[in-house]
Amino acid sequence: MTQLFHNISELRTVSAAGTINNGALVSDKDGVIVWVGAFDELPDEVAASVDKKIDLGGRAVLPGWVDSHTHMIFDGNRAAEFEARMAGESYSAGGIATTMEATRSAGRERLEQLLQERIAGCHAGGTTTIETKTGYGLNTESEALAAEVASGGIDDVTFLGAHLVPPGAEAEDYLEEVVGPMLDAVEPYAGWIDVFCETGAFNEEQSRKVLEAGKKRGLHPRVHGNQLQQGPGVRLAVEIGAASVDHVNYLSDDDIHALANSDTVATVLPACDLSTKQDLAPARQLLDAGVTVAIASNLNPGTSYTSSMNYCVTTAVLQQDLSLDEAIEAATLGGAKALRRNPGEDGKDGQGRPGRGSLVVGASADLHVLNFTNAIELAYRPGMPATYRTYKDGVEVFSAA
Ligand code: NIG
Repeated sequence: MTQLFHNISELRTVSAAGTINNGALVSDKDGVIVWVGAFDELPDEVAASVDKKIDLGGRAVLPGWVDSHTHMIFDGNRAAEFEARMAGESYSAGGIATTMEATRSAGRERLEQLLQERIAGCHAGGTTTIETKTGYGLNTESEALAAEVASGGIDDVTFLGAHLVPPGAEAEDYLEEVVGPMLDAVEPYAGWIDVFCETGAFNEEQSRKVLEAGKKRGLHPRVHGNQLQQGPGVRLAVEIGAASVDHVNYLSDDDIHALANSDTVATVLPACDLSTKQDLAPARQLLDAGVTVAIASNLNPGTSYTSSMNYCVTTAVLQQDLSLDEAIEAATLGGAKALRRNPGEDGKDGQGRPGRGSLVVGASADLHVLNFTNAIELAYRPGMPATYRTYKDGVEVFSAA
């Protein structure tokens, strides 16, 4: 069905067209954008092709958020660890093992149910594209199950067997399992490979081994790097051609320079920084240096138990010195670039799929309709219900009303 979305006070296309006042957008039967512009300029022949008109009541519309970093396949709760952190304990990667236990014992049905609830939560906050990682199974059987479950509803699945060496295992033995049978088992379900390159998790050499093994099998690399201290993560990500390096809290000038001269996106995770009581990642400095920045939620039970991109974007504006335009771009087109899903000139991504993160002809009609007339109210009214409706591929997946 061809749909016309109209009565849009501010249509933020996150493209060269910028923000269109009294905007409108037309999507085709596949949920692909076929026209976008000012309502007054809608061509007669396009208007004649419309089967259904959707009046958005004078609200602002953005591209759906692209959440390019989450860990949604888990069971269990670490509120006590969080509470201890708020009382002065510092975060350590070891907490991952707690979630591993709960996830291993959850079973397929419960993990599927939790995932569907989490996806619904994302839609309710305006997110339309989701990446998620394995990484709480940490043995071949549980990692394969996590990847399979994730592939039922997640846009981009990442294999993160190299999240932590599970308690009781030897690092080198575990790595052999990750790059051998575990990789065999997850390959049908995953498009990406990731590693937690950090003291207490995996060192540079181990991380390179994991990423190279994944690459050989056609999985594209991404890296958790420079979260807890300066280290080799960013350098390795750039060297290996990773689409993104995520966290990036502790950066040297060389790291920033390397990112600025690469195609690797720096993904900042403001909710995680707040929950782990770290200084917020230097998003302003990265943008000023010419680095492509993405904002993601990092939903996980250890460091960031939220999927609210509205919260992350608001934090970037209020505390990371980004303008609203910069924060919106980082959480839409920036996330799409981190997943290599950004639209090219024909609106399609590099794999010929409708692009994401930008409202242009040829891209997916992924729309985040705000409860507000002006998008700035996202940050002006922090924490207030901001999402009115969400459309993914032209289909309504959430409505507040
Ligand atoms: O992205 N940094 C590594 N992984 C997760 C946290 C995992 C956990 O503590 O459960 C993150 O923050």
